[in-house]
Amino acid sequence: MRTRHPERPVAPRPTAFGPAGFGLAVSSRLERPGGGSLRTAAAFVAALILMTGCRQDMHDQAKYEPLETNPIFANDMASRPLVANTVPRGFLREDTAFFTGLGEGKEPLDAFPMKALRQRWVHGETMTDTEMNRALLLKGKKRFDTFCSPCHDTVGTGNGTIVQRGFKKPPSLHEDRLREALPGYFVNVITEGFGQMSSYAPQIVPEDRWAVAAYIRALQLSQNARLAELPPEVERNFRQALAAGSSSETSGDHGEASGHGGHASKSPDEESRSSELPASESANLAATDIEVGES
Ligand code: HEC
Repeated sequence: MRTRHPERPVAPRPTAFGPAGFGLAVSSRLERPGGGSLRTAAAFVAALILMTGCRQDMHDQAKYEPLETNPIFANDMASRPLVANTVPRGFLREDTAFFTGLGEGKEPLDAFPMKALRQRWVHGETMTDTEMNRALLLKGKKRFDTFCSPCHDTVGTGNGTIVQRGFKKPPSLHEDRLREALPGYFVNVITEGFGQMSSYAPQIVPEDRWAVAAYIRALQLSQNARLAELPPEVERNFRQALAAGSSSETSGDHGEASGHGGHASKSPDEESRSSELPASESANLAATDIEVGES
């Protein structure tokens, strides 16, 4: 049997709900024929009240929540700043170029940081260059289709569903200016946002931002490749398709540039590219803008 602590009062103490023995007092009043079930109910209710009391004790522990005040400190903030020169776990961002896309002088990086990417990629260190590039592009496509295509659309012309419903239309990623932009520039836009576009840093981890930049490069190539740059097999198919197309239709891609010459504000090839083929098809076919003369 448990022995009671000598200093602890043995008799029940008064509670907030009334005199000690409240449960007993209630039950004696209910002592009538059929009062048994009522008594159980009353005990049950009393137990419930007591249980919620316990729960509140757990809730109201002496602790500070984020942004709470505490007058003990000069700035009245309960949360204390980091001690100088400490870094929270996972926040050591020594390689600023990798995390921001910008070099020492804030200029966008020209090359993909493949070494850092491999270190952060699952199996990255044992992959061949081809495997690594492929993994990067596939991851980039996944992220781009999820987070960017709602506005930029899956090809990057800037006509995603959110734009169709009224959001500001982003520039086409196939504009000359963005074709010439360096990979680090895209990483930086994703990290910091740009104008009306918010930062996607919370959604996309740094290594995936580089993957998205790589995929944007692939998209850009898909809309602006030269026949000579295609693999021989693909090039042959294309030439056949072009030959078949030009025998039934007289107008080719080159009619566009001169035909739309009057549009000064928008580059004519940008317009023809977004309107000529359904987006997905033009991405797959890899060109609406082939230089047939070259070989
Ligand atoms: C909610 C819509 C929206 C989403 C989602 C979005 N963007 Fe944008 N983006 C914009 C808009 C709008 C602009 C133009 C901003 C401005 O000029 O104010 C823009 C501009 C850009 C630019 C051009 C910057 C320049 O120099 O003109 C790039 C590059 C870009 N976005 C990349 C991305 C990438 C990569 C993603 C996905 C990670 C993404 N955007 C997701 C709306 C979006």
